[in-house]
Amino acid sequence: MKITNLGTSKQASFYVATTLYKQMLQKKESKLGLATGGTMIEMYEALVTLLNNNRLDVSQVETFNLDEYIGLEADHPASYHQYMNHILFNQYEGFDPAKRHLPNGVAENPEREAARYEALLDERGPVDIQILGIGQNGHIGFNEPGTPFDSVTHRVDLTESTIEANSRYFDDKADVPKQAISMGLRSIMKAKRIILLAFGAHKKEAITQLAAGHITTDVPATILHLHPNVEVYVDDAAMPELS
Ligand code: PGA
Repeated sequence: MKITNLGTSKQASFYVATTLYKQMLQKKESKLGLATGGTMIEMYEALVTLLNNNRLDVSQVETFNLDEYIGLEADHPASYHQYMNHILFNQYEGFDPAKRHLPNGVAENPEREAARYEALLDERGPVDIQILGIGQNGHIGFNEPGTPFDSVTHRVDLTESTIEANSRYFDDKADVPKQAISMGLRSIMKAKRIILLAFGAHKKEAITQLAAGHITTDVPATILHLHPNVEVYVDDAAMPELS
């Protein structure tokens, strides 16, 4: 696994946006695994600029998001459905709504919804590129420490640190959902290529643990050492000390 410091989040975001753009340019029916969160904002902004400048036909591109909160309607402002609409799908017309997939956070039966989503990934996948952020506790998707490496899409209980980190998107911390539906670690590992982004000093410890190479469910991202095609891009602040 190569960890590359691209200097600033802006530079790294542009690099990854260009990578996604090239993927869609070279393969019209590309399948992209998408992530949400603060880390991804500049990347989507750069991608939207590239798409608008070049009017790329993305009508056959299919997207699969990692996760959604349980209990939030798709039109809730803090839902990941809305995040994706605001940052990408409403900014560049042309992504076919029928080819944009996220788990349904208000499905009557979350377990059945998780199984449906995993079956969809198996039927339509594998994704060509999966984009990932990383939690301060090393989570990927909402796969918190202790999640089994063979997990598929499932209902998860969010940890206190994740609820705290995500409370900035809600009026009140008490409003943050306590559960989500997330692709599992095995679901993520099915991707052909994985690109993880981490910016800021608060991510340095998680990247340091990832860089150490010890594979453990205590730091879920370390499963990525078992994948043959992973790239990690960080900024100066998240770069581990070189030993
Ligand atoms: P962030 O979240 O981009 O908002 O830091 C990343 C994550 O928790 O996976």
